[in-house]
Amino acid sequence: MSQQLRVPFGTISITDHSKHLMEEILAANRVSSGRYVRKLEDEFATLIGIGQAVAVSSGTDADVLALATLHDFGAQRGDEVIVPALSFVATGNAVLHAGFKPVFVDVDRRTLNIDPTGIEPAITEKTRAIMPVHLMGKPADMSAINAIARQYDLYVVEDAAEAYGAVYKGQPVGTLSDLAAFSLYVAHILTTIEGGMVVTNREDFAEVLRSLRSHGRACKCKECTINTTSKYCPKRFQGRGGEDIRFVFERIGYSCKMNEMEAAIGLGNIESYKDTLDARRRNLVYVLKRFGQFSPYLVTSEESADETIGPHAIPIVVQEAASFTRASLASYLERSGIETRTLFASMPTQCAGFAYLGYELGQFPNAEYIGTHGIHVGVHQGLGLEEMDYILATLKRFLEEHQTQ
Ligand SMILES: Cc1ncc(COP(=O)(O)O)c(C=O)c1O
Repeated sequence: MSQQLRVPFGTISITDHSKHLMEEILAANRVSSGRYVRKLEDEFATLIGIGQAVAVSSGTDADVLALATLHDFGAQRGDEVIVPALSFVATGNAVLHAGFKPVFVDVDRRTLNIDPTGIEPAITEKTRAIMPVHLMGKPADMSAINAIARQYDLYVVEDAAEAYGAVYKGQPVGTLSDLAAFSLYVAHILTTIEGGMVVTNREDFAEVLRSLRSHGRACKCKECTINTTSKYCPKRFQGRGGEDIRFVFERIGYSCKMNEMEAAIGLGNIESYKDTLDARRRNLVYVLKRFGQFSPYLVTSEESADETIGPHAIPIVVQEAASFTRASLASYLERSGIETRTLFASMPTQCAGFAYLGYELGQFPNAEYIGTHGIHVGVHQGLGLEEMDYILATLKRFLEEHQTQ
């Protein structure tokens, strides 16, 4: 047996620049959402190649607010949003928290993403939006999804939480729809520890998003005098009859602003984003190229010629030909020092909270299969090819020991 390595699932970096910014923020005593959050939003928008970015306190909030924006643009409470059955549970939760009903569609077992052929049959009079997820950074089939959305006049909101650096037919993921939500949680390629970002090319959407993150206030300028300086804001007492617009509430809102300390961490990490992405891509491509040796027992994602997978993590799905269980594989990897996570579940039929919607086990066979047979392991920038070789060698040894021909 080769020497045991440690392959943690994630890593965290707080750069010297971030630490310096945090000291400055603390010394100035201006810690709630202010100029560094604005700066992070600008740099994030540039990074993604989009007009507007609005920072919030988690990727889940980014999903919720992206959807809740639609209430100002024709959607009614109780309308339906089509989502893949398989995702991190935040996707389904977000639809409900935004005041919509999730309508689930099964995924494609090869891509882990929503199967576009299931979308049209799920559309009803009440459907307002489709929310594809780019799971494990693999782009969803956006051409097919956008074509259906155009035909039925639906909004498309990307859950791009896991998809930094993903490219679909030459265009960055996050720029392929009306609005997109990214997570800045610690496990993700760009992090503020906890945080999220909604991106869009529409200024009117961005304005509503800024209102939504702060209780639905009428105070929603992009450049904020109050939060970034101590100056008098000439717009403030311009509500009806000279009222303070900070206490005029235009819509049902949320409380999910990002703070300056989180922004400082994000600003440091944005500087090393390209190196982080390159390191993760090197690891991912190395493993994908060598994974065929485990067929037909284990599969991972494949990268097609018209896409670049955002290197979030390495999915591994135990196939029917295997004579072992997911639990035995995960436990073997963990005992060998390789941390694992399960590959999520079918939200409507394997996550208890959604039971009241009345779906039954068996309705989403692909999502359910992955929900009981999938894991994912780390690919992050703290790991290198030595660790990738170790993951491959450990899987090989596991199959030699556990697979009966
Ligand atoms: C697909 C997907 N959507 C939404 C989220 C929610 O992000 P957060 O954990 O930042 O709330 C995650 C989290 O990792 C995710 O993987």
